[in-house]
Amino acid sequence: MESTNANDLEQGRDFLAWISRGSIESFTGAVMTTPTLMDELSQIDFSPNATDAIAAFANAHGFHFTGAELSDYLERKIENDLSERDLRHRRELLERRDRGDIPMPVPMDRDCAAGGQVLDYEDGFTLDRRGILEGESIAARQVPAIADLVAVIREVLVRAFYPHAPREAHGKLDLETYTRIVKETYEAFLEDERIHPIMTTLVEQMGMDPARVIYEWPGFRLVFPEGSPAPGFYRTTVSGFLPAHRDTWYGSPQHQINLWGPVWPIAADATLQVFPRYYLKSIENATLGYDIWRQYVGLGLAPAIRETVNRDRVVAPPLEVGDVFCFATHHLHASAVHSGDTTRISFELRLLHRDDEGADYVPPNIDYYGCGEIYKGWYGPDGKEIP
Ligand SMILES: [Fe+2]
Repeated sequence: MESTNANDLEQGRDFLAWISRGSIESFTGAVMTTPTLMDELSQIDFSPNATDAIAAFANAHGFHFTGAELSDYLERKIENDLSERDLRHRRELLERRDRGDIPMPVPMDRDCAAGGQVLDYEDGFTLDRRGILEGESIAARQVPAIADLVAVIREVLVRAFYPHAPREAHGKLDLETYTRIVKETYEAFLEDERIHPIMTTLVEQMGMDPARVIYEWPGFRLVFPEGSPAPGFYRTTVSGFLPAHRDTWYGSPQHQINLWGPVWPIAADATLQVFPRYYLKSIENATLGYDIWRQYVGLGLAPAIRETVNRDRVVAPPLEVGDVFCFATHHLHASAVHSGDTTRISFELRLLHRDDEGADYVPPNIDYYGCGEIYKGWYGPDGKEIP
């Protein structure tokens, strides 16, 4: 009798979870495709119990569920959708956080005189990693392996969107079809055997020993023109124009170096922007309690900045196809506003050099309050994903 009651109770809970799930999914879908809703939502603080505040926000916009239902939904989705390795990693970090075992940021308020340089690629080129990790940003012009990478991405996208041109497909396809194409295309791209040899060559052309470097599989970013029914995509996720942030706010390691460049020509003022004045200054932000795994399963809340950015001294060199902009992941950076009427298509990838880990030229964590450094999607010198 007792077990029947327990089963009834369990089934009742499942039924209620099923009802709230529809409302939660309608809400997350609306947030992902409505930039103004996302902007408003990003004003909510991500304290670990932010689900109540998010639910109150959703209720005010006509989506009815409670904070507890949202929490339950997210935890179930995380359990169902993430790999065993991701789940293990998350559990370890959450346990460490609960024990108070994650180092708190070191507040800092120092000026950084670093700026930007534009360098032509030539034989013997060596990327000044130390300079970059001290705040300098470097645009390297016409790197052969970047041209090869761009050629592969172009070919993949042209084939995926055929008969539409990749920069025009946003206006020709409904969002559901576009989303499916992007997902299928990026999943196939993750298996593309041309990428690892190109990455190895790229690392060599940057003057590094591939045996000492791990890399993030390149991603492509598709930013739709303003006023489109969705902001765009990064890899397989809905994402568009990015307000100022540090990648370390998403858990990236402090010694990570980012590489960004156009896949098709972009306007001179459309390059990603870096703000060196903040390199050694802590910034108010919403990373407290931020849980990237929740973002992976559909609550697309990025850690938001809580200050107005002073845009003096922005570093944003115009880039041609084949150029690559290299900057520290610790840098505050933002997308340029996309004013064109075609999709802006760029690539991005990240590198970690073993010698930089813990080096004295790498800044400490000065303002990330999340769970800790998150290693996900890194590939080693053998071309295999690092377990
Ligand atoms: Fe970023």
